[in-house]
Amino acid sequence: MPFAGKRILVTGAGSGIGRTAARLFRERGADLELVGRRLAALQDTLLDAHHIPLDHADEAAVAAFAASCPPLDGMFLAAGELRTGSVEGTPTADFEAMIAANLRGPWLMAHHLGPKLKDGASVVLVGSNIALRAIPDSAAYSVTKAGVHMLAKVLALEWASRGIRCNAIAPGPIHTTMVAVRLAASADPAADLARLAVVNPLKRLGTEVEVAALAAHLLSDESAWTTGAVITIDGGANAVY
Ligand SMILES: NC(=O)c1ccc[n+]([C@@H]2O[C@H](COP(=O)([O-])OP(=O)(O)OC[C@H]3O[C@@H](n4cnc5c(N)ncnc54)[C@H](OP(=O)(O)O)[C@@H]3O)[C@@H](O)[C@H]2O)c1
Repeated sequence: MPFAGKRILVTGAGSGIGRTAARLFRERGADLELVGRRLAALQDTLLDAHHIPLDHADEAAVAAFAASCPPLDGMFLAAGELRTGSVEGTPTADFEAMIAANLRGPWLMAHHLGPKLKDGASVVLVGSNIALRAIPDSAAYSVTKAGVHMLAKVLALEWASRGIRCNAIAPGPIHTTMVAVRLAASADPAADLARLAVVNPLKRLGTEVEVAALAAHLLSDESAWTTGAVITIDGGANAVY
């Protein structure tokens, strides 16, 4: 029970990777603060937790929550959103929505909740392996996730004097709602899903549990000397052409 007596905040806790991670952290003993925009989804994740329905890009809401948030041993900032398109083909409103969901949100969480982190805490941000190498049609998403990777490095530097670590993970495709919605918009979802699975050496998609397990490792004292890292979890896709 590595998280017994520890309080961990999870954003994006109402679905996908965040939901799976919240349940894993609970199994390992954590007390949880679950953040997402849909209260019912947070309750479906776990009843035995604090539920905080808010938009992490809404500064007033994040600041109000931070004022009453108890001291934290960790944060797993998994909330994010995917909108597709090239630079020329992406409406500016979609670009701004990507900035809000993927970069402004984790920035505000760090800005307002940093003072709530206990000395020795650990924070894990969720970037993406397509923020390390460009692929077609995900321009705004990739650019904002690249910002998340740098945010983790800057926070690692700024928080080091308090013994607080910060890392980013960069997953490849996981078959969550985010990917399902993207596939549903494709002309041939089955072919696209198969293509996603074969671009990495292990020739399959990852799972939410595999990503959650990496986050748990980075939040635990097992990884006490790891900070400022961007760690891919993508079946080796970023290692090869
Ligand atoms: N699935 C993949 O292939 C993949 C690959 C690389 C990285 N990622 C990243 O992994 C993270 C989790 O994604 P997922 O695959 O688990 O997708 P998901 O099931 O769609 O989960 C995304 C979560 O983010 C929350 N969210 C989105 N915008 C928010 C906002 N403004 N304020 C608060 N919460 C917000 C959503 O909750 P509400 O709608 O209830 O607010 C939802 O629970 C994301 O950061 C994503 O970019 C995913």
